[in-house]
Amino acid sequence: MADTQSNPLLQALPDGIVPATEVARNEKHWLLLMLGLLILLMAVVVTTTMTSALHPPSNVETIDPTTLHLSGEFAESNLGTAQERDGSLTARVVADQYAFVPYCVKLAVDTPVKFRLTSADVVHGFLLPATNVNTMVVPGYVAEVRTRFARPGVYSMPCNEFCGNGHHGMWARVSVVPKEQFPALAPTERSSCVQQ
Ligand code: CUA
Repeated sequence: MADTQSNPLLQALPDGIVPATEVARNEKHWLLLMLGLLILLMAVVVTTTMTSALHPPSNVETIDPTTLHLSGEFAESNLGTAQERDGSLTARVVADQYAFVPYCVKLAVDTPVKFRLTSADVVHGFLLPATNVNTMVVPGYVAEVRTRFARPGVYSMPCNEFCGNGHHGMWARVSVVPKEQFPALAPTERSSCVQQ
């Protein structure tokens, strides 16, 4: 009896104090639960990636980001707005830190528009407020979005994906002109909003 009294570990704890062994057991249970949840969530990510073709937004069209400027669809001379045989428009834009090239594209109102975008470096975002256009622009992939502008005007297109220190200054514009004005524009005017 005297031994029990002198060993503090064997003394009864005051009310409300949980024994250290019980605390350790609870901590172990919660830790195991967390670990189980972590494994479950990782398994969900891996399974959906494999079974539901998790991939960058838009079409899975790959491109070599290191040679964009040299040749092919995104060479500098090919950027901006082009008119297709069926009258629809295709705007090709390259995103890089921290600008869109070209900085402004001209489009015609009430005409089907297809944006084709790619990145030369990191992930950027392409957003046209008040339209259905909102996509990530991932290096190595071509993002394609289609829209149609109901009203003429100048639309801002901010990069909406954090891409580095200059992200906040990464803006470009779309200038939507009346339908009858568009055919008169020279190719250089279609990729620039500077008054010529
Ligand atoms: Cu580009 Cu943010």
